[in-house]
Amino acid sequence: MTDTALEHGRELRSGGLTERARAVFPPAAARHTDLAFVRAEGTRVETDDGRQLLDFASGVAVTNVGHGNPVVMRRIQEQMATLVHAGHNIGVYPSYVELAERLVGLVHPDRKVFFGNSGAEALESAVKLAMRATGRNGLIAFKGGFHGRTLTTTALSASSANYRAGYLAALPTIQHVAFPDPFNQHSTPAAESARCLAELDELFELVVPANEVAALVVEPVQGEGGYQPAPVEFLRGLRERCSAHGIALIFDEIQTGFGRTGAMFAYEHMDVRPDVLVLAKGIANGLPLSAIVGTPELMDRWPAGAHGGTFGGNPVACAAALGVLDVLRDGGLDNARRQGTRLRAGLEALVTDLPLRSDVRGLGLMLGVELRHPDGSPASDVLAATCRRAAEEGLLIIPCGVHKNVLRLMPPTTLSTDDAAAALAMLGRALDAAVRP
Ligand SMILES: Cc1ncc(COP(=O)(O)O)c(C=O)c1O
Repeated sequence: MTDTALEHGRELRSGGLTERARAVFPPAAARHTDLAFVRAEGTRVETDDGRQLLDFASGVAVTNVGHGNPVVMRRIQEQMATLVHAGHNIGVYPSYVELAERLVGLVHPDRKVFFGNSGAEALESAVKLAMRATGRNGLIAFKGGFHGRTLTTTALSASSANYRAGYLAALPTIQHVAFPDPFNQHSTPAAESARCLAELDELFELVVPANEVAALVVEPVQGEGGYQPAPVEFLRGLRERCSAHGIALIFDEIQTGFGRTGAMFAYEHMDVRPDVLVLAKGIANGLPLSAIVGTPELMDRWPAGAHGGTFGGNPVACAAALGVLDVLRDGGLDNARRQGTRLRAGLEALVTDLPLRSDVRGLGLMLGVELRHPDGSPASDVLAATCRRAAEEGLLIIPCGVHKNVLRLMPPTTLSTDDAAAALAMLGRALDAAVRP
């Protein structure tokens, strides 16, 4: 056998998927790890070389009720056996209608729903809805926000100039305002809220007339931007201004939704309601599905033919989402809150002895740990080493934050106490090794 053939054999035995992927995919979709996954169950994923890892990434906040959750799988299998596709521009079907009814029941009885496939697609829908219904086209979003990769959602995002580079001419105009960041501004949530709201007021005065703004898009907890919860007074201030000026307040709950924060939707913690709620990621535990849930004032002004799509509200994905709702209702949300409190306490204990400045924050099982060196510079190096080391230990964890210096923990809402403890132990060792190599 030639050297090349031997090499090839070795590659195949170990999977070799990562190398093969390098040959057939462009570098664009950057990956956090070199791992190749072959199966997953509950809280664990298995790699092609037979290793099991505790999954605290959940496919980026998607498998919110655990991989292969039996309740969800049963719904999927039953639906697969009856109807896989129909097309919601042709007719309706049971899982599609039932899911919309249940979402309306969870949000407000007067709301209406539109289904899509991905988070970005849903945000595009929400923006189109707001523009068509208000007859305006101004859009406002926040620095540090991330909303997707289509042109409008790339334009809405302001968490990395690299995401926008090269596309500027095709991006619609968006005004970006500061988002509260008490830790880095050495301030309080209330003072930060006042600062950012004042910046918005100034924008209305100097840059865009408020009565030409169709929508303001905000994440109640910034995800990619650093697991940064919006202070209640900030969201209240946004709500007041949107109501006063007839602007649609759009909450991007793509990452915060579906139980991630220990509530069905993050806005429930803050008691501030959006005009349009945008959902995706965890909604169907891994099948492609997204939804917008909007007020009748907007939805009833969205005429027939104003929007559509081939795969939106796929019967199997809707069936999976019904299963997710059952799991969350039947203990998932309670467990997320319980385990979230436990994990948070564990994280706070882990960072106390680190020779770094740290901030543990988040809601439920959407927890972030920002790390900075004593001179204030982002500890992205420590983060990268910690994630690498954690994967060796058997914990899959990824960073976020505009400087990639925030650890983000997003395990499933079905996390057990033992797995939470095991994850903390592995993370503790990984952090220790990263700061004291
Ligand atoms: C808050 C938020 N909005 C929008 C998106 C885009 O969703 P998708 O990747 O499904 O288009 C993401 C994805 O990470 C997200 O976290």
